[in-house]
Amino acid sequence: MRPIRGEEVAAGLAVAAALALGGCLASGAGVPPVSAELLARVEPAGLDAAALQRGRDLYVGKCARCHTALPIDAYGAEAWPGILARMGPLTPLDGPEQQDLAAYVYAARALLAE
Ligand code: HEC
Repeated sequence: MRPIRGEEVAAGLAVAAALALGGCLASGAGVPPVSAELLARVEPAGLDAAALQRGRDLYVGKCARCHTALPIDAYGAEAWPGILARMGPLTPLDGPEQQDLAAYVYAARALLAE
């Protein structure tokens, strides 16, 4: 992981502030609730709804400490592994939390892409 510099944090906060002011996140767009449709897109299958809900709670809770809960479909499926690898340690998340969060993010990304 590369170190996070102060100016990058400032830039991120400015982006988050601009997004929040734009109001595009007020409705929770791009952060779908846990549903049968979402569960059907969990890979590998078998994770239960409670784990997915924990993942969503982390996304809208701990992950929205420095910036808002950014719309998951604003970033490509190929970008998310790198984002989670960078943001996880910043949050920070323990192992099970990382798994639940990743399962939620990837299932949501797949659902929103349809
Ligand atoms: C300690 C503050 C902090 C926490 C906690 C945090 N982020 Fe971030 N995040 C940032 C900053 C600063 C940026 C912009 C600069 C950057 O990308 O490194 C950012 C950028 C992003 C972006 C934009 C994409 C990108 O590549 O820049 C996404 C998506 C994101 N964060 C998701 C998350 C998720 C998911 C979590 C929870 C696991 C999380 N963040 C937790 C500070 C944080």
